[in-house]
Amino acid sequence: MQSEIRRKLLEAFRDAKGGYVSGQKISELLGCSRTAVWKHIEELRKEGYELEAIRKKGYRIVKMPDKISDNEIRLGLETNRLGHDIYYYDQVDSTQTIAQELANKGVKEGTIVVADEQTGGRGRMARTWYSPKETGIWMSLILRPNIPIQHTPQLTLLTAVAIVQAIEEISGLSPVIKWPNDILINGKKVVGILTELQAEADRVHAVIIGMGINVNQNQDHFPDHIKEIATSLYIEKGKYFTRAEIIQKILLSFERLYDQFLKDGFKPIKLLWESYAISLKQMITARTLSGTIRGKAIGINDEGVLLVQTEEGEVKHIYSADIEI
Ligand code: BTN
Repeated sequence: MQSEIRRKLLEAFRDAKGGYVSGQKISELLGCSRTAVWKHIEELRKEGYELEAIRKKGYRIVKMPDKISDNEIRLGLETNRLGHDIYYYDQVDSTQTIAQELANKGVKEGTIVVADEQTGGRGRMARTWYSPKETGIWMSLILRPNIPIQHTPQLTLLTAVAIVQAIEEISGLSPVIKWPNDILINGKKVVGILTELQAEADRVHAVIIGMGINVNQNQDHFPDHIKEIATSLYIEKGKYFTRAEIIQKILLSFERLYDQFLKDGFKPIKLLWESYAISLKQMITARTLSGTIRGKAIGINDEGVLLVQTEEGEVKHIYSADIEI
């Protein structure tokens, strides 16, 4: 099916918000005969869409295929400005790399890069991120906030809150956040966030927020070295999820929080982040690239930096580390 026809057809279903769209209306929208409408509907079925057809009412999408290309993300997207420009790839090295290049070329705030599979997914602290095809969300979001450079880590914390809220809403599960940005369910990691910055002297050009979300993997999908520490929404809930729907929910909760952040600053976001955090007010071990610090996590400051009080009473500022509780 021509992509323009496909887009118009899916838009008609999106506008109907799950309701019926009559064959007459579709034929007017596409400027084609009723027979041609029927053929287009059949093509959607072949692509994995489940459609119901009722006489005198028309057609309705019952279930979408679990694809995450631009049409599926757009259909049902409720944001005002985030996620409207979508770069989708079946396979990439890393969505972060592509997003970095696009940001350099000047694409606008809210642009997202999404891939069905990453062959060189990057994690924090120079690790790799396992990103097999058809099972997870591997996405980078480009932002251009007018904020001081030292405030950009706050956006990582904001992202964690946005993803927790979206997962709660879509699955009923209760994820928690381990500083700075691991999202866990039942003690295992389900989401990782990687924030990268393009800036000069005192000006932020772009913040690239990479999100890796394990959605439909089962235990056997994970390689041995992460089996014990990784989980997915499917494993935790026992049902499959539509990835495009999760992306839409994340973008929506992100946009709400981001607008609030740009208007009122970090305080309200910090309160939300603390309400989901598990690593606070307890003894922790922080493994940084330059050494290990043990102490009580007494909180985060307004820059999103973790404050750890050692046994000697000294308060250390932790900017990047792995935390063990
Ligand atoms: C972590 O180490 O916890 C962060 C993992 C971040 C993974 C995501 S997947 C989409 C984006 N592209 C990448 O290469 N990495 C991030």
